[in-house]
Amino acid sequence: MADPFIHSQYDTILILDFGSQYSHLITRRCRELNVYCEMLPCTQKIKDLDWKPKGIILSGSPYSVYDDGAPRVDPDVFEAGVPVLGICYGLQEIAWNHGGKVDPHDHREYGSATISIVKTGDKHMDALFEDVSGEVPVWMSHGDQLSKAPVDFEVVARTPTAPFAAIAHRTKPIYGIQFHPEVTHSPRGKELFESFVSNICKCRRDWTMETFIDKEIKRIRDIVGPKGRVLGAISGGVDSSVAAKLMHEAIGDRFHAVMVDNGVLRADEAKQVDQMLNKDLGVNVTIVDASDLFLSRLEGVEDPEKKRKIIGNTFINVFEAEVAKLEEQAEKEELAALASGKAHEAKGKFEFLLQGTLYPDVIESISFKGPSATIKTHHNVGGLLEDMKLKLIEPLRELFKDEVRALGRVMGIPEHLVGRHPFPGPGLAIRILGPVTRDQVKILQHADKIYIEEIRNAGFYDQISQAFAVLLPVRAVGVQGDKRTYDQVIALRAAQTTDFMTATWFPFPFDFLCKVSNRITNEVAGVNRVVLDISSKPPATIEWL
Ligand code: XMP
Repeated sequence: MADPFIHSQYDTILILDFGSQYSHLITRRCRELNVYCEMLPCTQKIKDLDWKPKGIILSGSPYSVYDDGAPRVDPDVFEAGVPVLGICYGLQEIAWNHGGKVDPHDHREYGSATISIVKTGDKHMDALFEDVSGEVPVWMSHGDQLSKAPVDFEVVARTPTAPFAAIAHRTKPIYGIQFHPEVTHSPRGKELFESFVSNICKCRRDWTMETFIDKEIKRIRDIVGPKGRVLGAISGGVDSSVAAKLMHEAIGDRFHAVMVDNGVLRADEAKQVDQMLNKDLGVNVTIVDASDLFLSRLEGVEDPEKKRKIIGNTFINVFEAEVAKLEEQAEKEELAALASGKAHEAKGKFEFLLQGTLYPDVIESISFKGPSATIKTHHNVGGLLEDMKLKLIEPLRELFKDEVRALGRVMGIPEHLVGRHPFPGPGLAIRILGPVTRDQVKILQHADKIYIEEIRNAGFYDQISQAFAVLLPVRAVGVQGDKRTYDQVIALRAAQTTDFMTATWFPFPFDFLCKVSNRITNEVAGVNRVVLDISSKPPATIEWL
């Protein structure tokens, strides 16, 4: 998990996760300050780390310190010789370890509160609120709270109901706060993090995508070496495109990407990827049209999990066959270079597989609560590795999605691709609610294209996290011209979300909906009705299948 390269390049804040729903937001807030940080489960022992953090943040937790099995902080955290900030449960863990008193509460205090900053006059103790004074609105979400300060700690903020809303050790750089500065409802939270990472931890603030590119390119070159090739699967989405471009910058045409057209992509997607990655950005991409194979295997299948499995397995078959061809070709080139005495031109064998894993996937897999229950099996290319004996290379595994987008922009990837909504691996197969046929795919592609076009024209695209059309498995009666029709129904979905775990629906204006509905029923043959999905997640999910 630990990445010695990254730790040798950037000062790192370690966030120990006690399972709070807000833990990953602490990571976001530090990264926004251009400070690299990494989240590890609270069970991480300091002595097992092979790198030294510049500071440690203890997150909140759904636990009470009184619960059986409540997570306990490793006491070595306080002996590591680096500043520590405890947030909510983190504060209580500090108190628990330093002779303070935590009072159990049978109900949670949840909502806005106002803290009064207490200036002690001591520069060290006042450092956390250096740039803030007076009354400050914050967000509280806790059950237990401190009723007695730990030994050698002073109060640096209080509220009428929380006399120990923030505490600081008299001499050591240990601070604790009861509220949550990481959520947007604590408007001055950023300044608090700034004080901690900059003034207290003295972190260099050089985590930017510009510096990341140079360092990552060097790292990729070191890993791959002067000879050796890398393979990658491209989906048309932002992550795989950015990863491919980065790989291309690092090793040029020793990187080869494969895009599998599975027949359930968005309209013209394969063509667009070819144009943008191959032709505009110069990345080596082979597009394999396997749509017949996918659609034949999907014939008559309605069950969404079956659709996912078929698409996942067929993808592996097609990708492996293509890789075998590329490997054969690479071998021929290798022999030819050696035979003509140009060994220096030989590019070597395929040794690595590029994967566009992002940091949220990493967090999810190591999270203190463990991976959340599978509601839908999400298909990715991870399963390829075991059989293929290729080593994994994951240049984006430290990045959040918005950092990937920023990286893409810095590398000159066009805005319409960098800002593109996510698209699921099983594609339109999980948006065609009945059986998938080429005709059904065409109908949905056409309706979706109109919908997205109108969303872009109206300027809503960037306000929506994910928008798409869905083809419902019903027929409805209509009248077109003088004729009775018995045609299909399109549902429009537009979700707004930050983490895709919960979502609300986008409130389109009436005239926009009229226009989209008119266009779809007029232009898409076989559709006579358009409906709008106004369901939140939960209880619905974003996709219909
Ligand atoms: P749900 O429907 O679970 O979607 O609310 C959350 C996010 O996950 C995407 N999604 C998938 N992505 N393979 C993927 O690669 C899948 O099988 C899959 N199912 C859902 C969905 O598009 C949304 O962004």
